[in-house]
Amino acid sequence: MKDLFGREINYMRISVTDLCNLRCRYCMPASGVQKMRHDDIMSEEEIITVIEAASELGINKIRFTGGEPLVKKNIVSICRRASRISGIDEVCLTTNGILLPPIADELRDAGVSRINISLDTLKPERYSYITRGGVLREAMQGIDAAIKAGFRVKLNTVLIGGFNDDEISDLAGLTLSMDIDIRFIELMPMLEGFSEGKFIASQKILDTLQEVEALGTDGVAKMFRLKGARGSIGFISPVSRAFCANCNRIRLTADGYIKPCLHSDTEIFVRHKTREELKSLIINAIQAKPESHTLNLYHHSQSLRTMNRIGG
Ligand code: 5AD
Ligand code: SF4
Repeated sequence: MKDLFGREINYMRISVTDLCNLRCRYCMPASGVQKMRHDDIMSEEEIITVIEAASELGINKIRFTGGEPLVKKNIVSICRRASRISGIDEVCLTTNGILLPPIADELRDAGVSRINISLDTLKPERYSYITRGGVLREAMQGIDAAIKAGFRVKLNTVLIGGFNDDEISDLAGLTLSMDIDIRFIELMPMLEGFSEGKFIASQKILDTLQEVEALGTDGVAKMFRLKGARGSIGFISPVSRAFCANCNRIRLTADGYIKPCLHSDTEIFVRHKTREELKSLIINAIQAKPESHTLNLYHHSQSLRTMNRIGG
């Protein structure tokens, strides 16, 4: 269905857990997360019921996120059931990739069509720093496993000044040798202490890339291709270029709130409802979408949650 600003909302991002096996500096506080009580987390049954209700309102694409969605024990089953719901055309996952190798094939069989994997650097010591202890080789093995399982893989790289700005052409260069796409995402100021001075505008990076051909836009991303490359590169600029006019999504948190906008503190609780109540709450959420967010370099997100509790 359309929201009040004429945007067709057909995409729901679902955070299935706020837990993660990594602790990226831009995403989670150093202290990690306080584990939510089991009862405070949506069950598989509840998640499926929300998707069914949403599908009746025109949601046709689902993306499971976290935290890290693969730490959720029943993620394969959730994906399988979601992909079988009539009206759902696409089930996708956003993961750090570490836990992919043993279950990539199962996820494929469960109907997952696309996987996005977070990768901010190609240097092992930097990977360990930014993720607070992650092992780069394990993430790379996850990427390989996804490709071998037949997925179209997209990498997500957060642009961080003084951290990976010297690696952008190497990361973009992966699209020359591998059949993958990569998206560079502007760092959003979500956590006090991490974002100051580290923001880089996408345009600045784009200016440094040689021989790129513009491909237009894909959702909220501006798309390009390096000459001779197999995959595309894209820029998502939530901070410097308000992308809200193309927003097509709502978000569901692991504890059962629909967020009309990533950066707003408006949340609509959708647990313990009948199907009809659920549908009208989802309609309310879509109608509560603001025209744009107010996030910029000097104005932190209004969301009261850190990213691991929203789902990126
Ligand atoms: N700024 C930009 N992107 C972020 N993500 C998480 N936190 C931030 C942030 N502060 C995104 C990353 C990661 C995904 C899970 O969420 O792209 O790949
Ligand atoms: Fe985990 Fe992803 Fe957040 Fe990193 S960005 S801590 S991998 S949820």
